[in-house]
Amino acid sequence: MRIAGLMASEVLDLIEEHVVPGITTDELNTICHQHIVDVQQATPAPLNYRGFPKSICTSVNHTICHGIPNDKKLKKGDILNIDVTVIKDGYFGDTSRMYYVGTPSANAAKLCEVAYECMARGIEVVKPGCTLGDIGHAIQVHAESNHYSIVREYCGHGIGSSFHEEPQVLHYGKPGTGPQLEAGMTFTIEPMVNQGRRHTKLLSDDWTVITKDRSLSAQWEHTVLVTPQGYDLLTMSDGRSL
Ligand code: MF3
Ligand code: CO
Ligand code: CO
Repeated sequence: MRIAGLMASEVLDLIEEHVVPGITTDELNTICHQHIVDVQQATPAPLNYRGFPKSICTSVNHTICHGIPNDKKLKKGDILNIDVTVIKDGYFGDTSRMYYVGTPSANAAKLCEVAYECMARGIEVVKPGCTLGDIGHAIQVHAESNHYSIVREYCGHGIGSSFHEEPQVLHYGKPGTGPQLEAGMTFTIEPMVNQGRRHTKLLSDDWTVITKDRSLSAQWEHTVLVTPQGYDLLTMSDGRSL
């Protein structure tokens, strides 16, 4: 899982310089796909997963998650989430980050920063004996104290030798509720934070999830291992830190 996780984060590193005005999300998909398949000799998990047609998810502006790469050009001021999941030697690594196309509005940048902090607050809670409710609560409080909302319909998940496993890791909740964490567990934390209301709408492609009120949405994701002392991030590139 460390190998798969590192590979997924390396894809997010390498795509950064390509996120510029005029590029399409299809072109970003091709760059990621080629790197995963040809260089990493790994498999992009989204491709053909329950019929998903591409190798990465690209969720632009008011798209919350599961955006399908397409031939529309990105433009200055767009924000987008790129979500990469790699399978290597049977194990999965799942991670996503926000990217700016040119310079974002102050509002958009703030949303992306708070969404990052939400993920970080959730991660920092992780240690044996804490509960899933403790994680969700830390995330929810941070989003709502910034007057943003947390998406409820989609959540983090156990991960290992399959993509989505038990438990569901909700990004909202009450302290002390839900299962307790034990060393050795691996799951994702991937809060989706909306600038407006939390409600979602699924588009007719059956994948793309947008904000019902068309407000901006931001998301970051890491794959997390529970250790005896706390946590380890399996999708952290070398030299990076939370
Ligand atoms: N990577 C997403 C997650 O964080 C799942 C994408 S499923 C796909 O769980 F089919 F849309 F790729
Ligand atoms: Co995930
Ligand atoms: Co993901």
